[in-house]
Amino acid sequence: MDWDELRASVAACDACELCKTRKQAVLGVGDVSPEWLFVGEGPGAEEDARGEPFVGQAGKLLDAMLAAIDLQRGRNVYIANTVKCRPPGNRTPTPAETAACWPYLERQIALLKPKLIVALGKPAAQTLLRTEVKVGEARGRLFEYNGITLIVTYHPAYLLRTLPDKAKAWEDLCLARSTLRKMQK
Ligand code: URA
Repeated sequence: MDWDELRASVAACDACELCKTRKQAVLGVGDVSPEWLFVGEGPGAEEDARGEPFVGQAGKLLDAMLAAIDLQRGRNVYIANTVKCRPPGNRTPTPAETAACWPYLERQIALLKPKLIVALGKPAAQTLLRTEVKVGEARGRLFEYNGITLIVTYHPAYLLRTLPDKAKAWEDLCLARSTLRKMQK
């Protein structure tokens, strides 16, 4: 699938129950030939309404996190989610839902060919690493997804509730930035 086919396929997807309650599927946003890919969990109410990932409160924090490492939404950065449709009440997507949606994220990554993936929170980390992980244990380390370096950090919505962990997320972003810089040398 190319981008147009992928977009059409996601928009019409009925592979899981989430299609019944969504306003629209949210594919992702940004530079389609980026060095950075950030992967969240799934759209919330505002994302479902607007069709763009991370445009609510958590999105504002994500934008601030990007700015802290001199990045900007859409410039050398693509933002996607593990599931493309909003889980009702913003619950965590079920394993069946993440499995049904996986081929879309898989294809996005293949098309984007990022140099570095930042998994925001546990559902993204577990989906990409195909293993049970805890963010607190996985953060601060370098993983690999299909030859692409992957770093795990806290989800911005979690950071809004747990301010002390913001410092750890900052460390993770610094690790991500220095890792990418080393690749560029
Ligand atoms: N949380 C996510 O994981 N993704 C969004 O797009 C918005 C909030």
